[in-house]
Amino acid sequence: MKYLFTKPMITYVIGTFLTFIFTGIVLSQVVDNYIVLAAVLLTAFICIILILLHIYDRHIKPINKATKTMEEIVKGNYTARIHHSSTSAIGELIQKVNKLARNLSELSIQEQMQSEQLTTVIDNTESGLVLIDSKGYIHLVNRKFISMFGNTVKDYRGYLYYDVLDNETIHETVQKTFLYEKAVKESFTHISGLDKYHLEIVGAPIFNERNMIRGAVLVLYDITELRNLEIMRKDFVANVSHELKTPITSIKGFAETLLDNDMEDEEARDEFLKIIYTESNRLQLLIEDLLTLSKLEKDDFPLALTSINVKALVEEIIPVIAQKADQKQLLLSCHVDEGITFTADKERVKQIFINLLDNAINYTPPNGEVQLDVTTRDEYVYIKVTDTGIGIDEQAQNRIFERFYRVDRARSRNTGGTGLGLAIVKHIVEVHEGKIEIVSELDKGTAIHIYLPMNRPE
Ligand SMILES: Nc1ncnc2c1ncn2[C@@H]1O[C@H](COP(=O)(O)OP(=O)(O)OP(=O)(O)O)[C@@H](O)[C@H]1O
Ligand SMILES: [Mg+2]
Repeated sequence: MKYLFTKPMITYVIGTFLTFIFTGIVLSQVVDNYIVLAAVLLTAFICIILILLHIYDRHIKPINKATKTMEEIVKGNYTARIHHSSTSAIGELIQKVNKLARNLSELSIQEQMQSEQLTTVIDNTESGLVLIDSKGYIHLVNRKFISMFGNTVKDYRGYLYYDVLDNETIHETVQKTFLYEKAVKESFTHISGLDKYHLEIVGAPIFNERNMIRGAVLVLYDITELRNLEIMRKDFVANVSHELKTPITSIKGFAETLLDNDMEDEEARDEFLKIIYTESNRLQLLIEDLLTLSKLEKDDFPLALTSINVKALVEEIIPVIAQKADQKQLLLSCHVDEGITFTADKERVKQIFINLLDNAINYTPPNGEVQLDVTTRDEYVYIKVTDTGIGIDEQAQNRIFERFYRVDRARSRNTGGTGLGLAIVKHIVEVHEGKIEIVSELDKGTAIHIYLPMNRPE
């Protein structure tokens, strides 16, 4: 009933009502029985109102619903639907509107998925991305870019690139890209907080279908690791050259002296020859170590895996080590658990023991102690070499596994060290998929812990 008082029904109801009043007035002039007249008119009025209500329900109400649903769809609410059962032409209209809403909904889901996929790709690219339009406004920056340059997306999007990016190389790249209308490549160093990045930037122009420049996309590659590798390689070459130069210079010098001077003094001659022998020995050791390292570093380094009895292996090396320890008046003690066998490359594992014990002896002053313990821990053979020597400060602890790193160059060289021993140990442990740890305190001593997995397939 309430529909009767809403638009457009109210107009019809009032119109009908006024018509009946008017008809009543006219008929009252010719009809005497007012009661019958009123009853007839009222019945007719009610009938017309009922017809109007029916028309409203069948035709106007679904159109109203369709209009409201269309309004929702226009607003972007594609889940809006009309629920009205009708078989007439209006029913067809309702079905069409619902179908339109369904299609739009599917389209919008697809579009949303595509845009999500694109955002995921852009945000998870390992390079920084910036999209700039032809006026210089930034339209897009990805997550990697934010991680490199800080702030949030809001601080860049919608701003002119030169207002929010204060890097000269980036400015130049953008300008050159727009000027030459072709890809431009530059590189620079960027410091963000404590991090220092080496970045390569590529600016690529974007053209429209009429071949006019519409903007530019900047791609920033993080080449820090590559640069560091390059630095390491250069350092390595410099270190090798330096290490080779010292013994070669002295061999050459002493050999020249021997050749130039007719040496009468046998003692001096023997002394010179001894130096030449020691230095050539150093050279040989250095070259052997370098070869071992380079073999270990090869990806497909073949391990000669055999079953190793640790006790037997330690007994093989102890005589030489004990003699060295004796010479330095050090107390050497070994505790190797009985019956530990595991699969590994015997010669390489032997080298671990020799290099670690060698260091412990070399860097422990006379009357100190060196101890070797071998036990098992979980699935690992656990090797511990401790000494009461000079120790290693915390800063150096992070570096002693680097090739050629020596805490005290002069001291290490006196012991004949090349600075490759621990680098070799680390590599051997790594190719065996083990772990290495160091605990050391300056002037108190050092402990190196090594864990080698017991169950390697042969
Ligand atoms: N047990 C230790 N106590 C104190 N310092 C040590 C110990 N082991 C190693 N270091 C320090 O770490 C450096 C690197 O050791 P590493 O064994 O790689 O080289 P090296 O002993 O100098 O030469 P080599 O190649 O002949 O072993 C040493 O020069 C020394 O300064
Ligand atoms: Mg050493």
